[in-house]
Amino acid sequence: MSEYRTVGVVGLGRMGLTLASGFGRAVGPARVYAAVRSPAGADRLRETVPGATVVPLPELAGHARLLVLCVRNADLPEVLDTLRPRLTERHLVITVNNGLPLRTLAEAVPGPVAKLVPSVGNEIGAGATLLVPGPRLTAPGAEELLGLLRAFSEPYVIEEGQGRTATDLASCGPALLAGAARAMVAAQREGGAPLPDDLAERLVTQ
Ligand SMILES: NC(=O)c1ccc[n+]([C@@H]2O[C@H](COP(=O)([O-])OP(=O)(O)OC[C@H]3O[C@@H](n4cnc5c(N)ncnc54)[C@H](OP(=O)(O)O)[C@@H]3O)[C@@H](O)[C@H]2O)c1
Repeated sequence: MSEYRTVGVVGLGRMGLTLASGFGRAVGPARVYAAVRSPAGADRLRETVPGATVVPLPELAGHARLLVLCVRNADLPEVLDTLRPRLTERHLVITVNNGLPLRTLAEAVPGPVAKLVPSVGNEIGAGATLLVPGPRLTAPGAEELLGLLRAFSEPYVIEEGQGRTATDLASCGPALLAGAARAMVAAQREGGAPLPDDLAERLVTQ
C-alpha cells in the first residue's frame, strides 16, 4: 500500500523548490503542498510547480504524509514545534540539513525519519539524490521512497557518516561544473555572442 503519495515541503528556498519540483514529478503537482514564510515563496511555488498548493505550516501534516523540511538549521526548532501537534507515527519526516543528526530528529517526531541530499539536476529530472534512512524507516518505507526519488533522480542509499563526502561529490562538485559551464556561455555572450545561447549551452555540456 502506498504510504507517501502526498508530499509537504516546508520552506521554498533553493532546496525546497528543487524538491517540490522533483516530488511534483513523482506524485503529481496536485499532491504537493508547501508551507512558506513569505509571499515570495508562494510566487516561487506557482511558477515552479503549477498545481501545487500553499497551506499554513500548522496544517501541513493534515495534507501530506511525507514531510520534507527545507529550512535553515536556525529555523528548524520552530518549524518542528509548529508541526508536532499534527504529526503521527505514519508521517515520514525528511531533513536536508547535514548538520542535523537523524537521531536528534527522531527524538523530536513520532514517526520515521530520513535525510536527503538533492543535486543540481533534480529540477529537470536528472542527477543523483542521496538517501540516508533513519530510525523507524522500514525497508518497505525506504523502497517506496526510493521509487519516488527515481521519478526525478538517480537515488543512492548512503550512511549518515558518509554524508559530507558524498554531498561534495554528488551535489557541490556538479554544481561547480554547472557554474563553470554557465560562465563559459556568458563569456561568449559578452565577447559578442557569435553563437546563440542554446547552441553555446549544448556545445559546452557535451
Ligand atoms: N543536503 C544538501 O545537499 C544541502 C545543500 C544545500 C543546503 N542544504 C541545507 O538546506 C537548508 C536550506 O537551504 P536553502 O539553500 O534552500 O536555504 P534558503 O534558500 O534560505 O531557503 C530556506 C527557506 O526556508 C523558509 N523558511 C524558514 N522558516 C520557515 C517557516 N517557519 N515556514 C516556512 N518556510 C520557512 C525561508 O523563507 P523566507 O523566504 O521567508 O526566508 C526560505 O525560503 C540549509 O540548512 C542548508 O544547510 C542542504
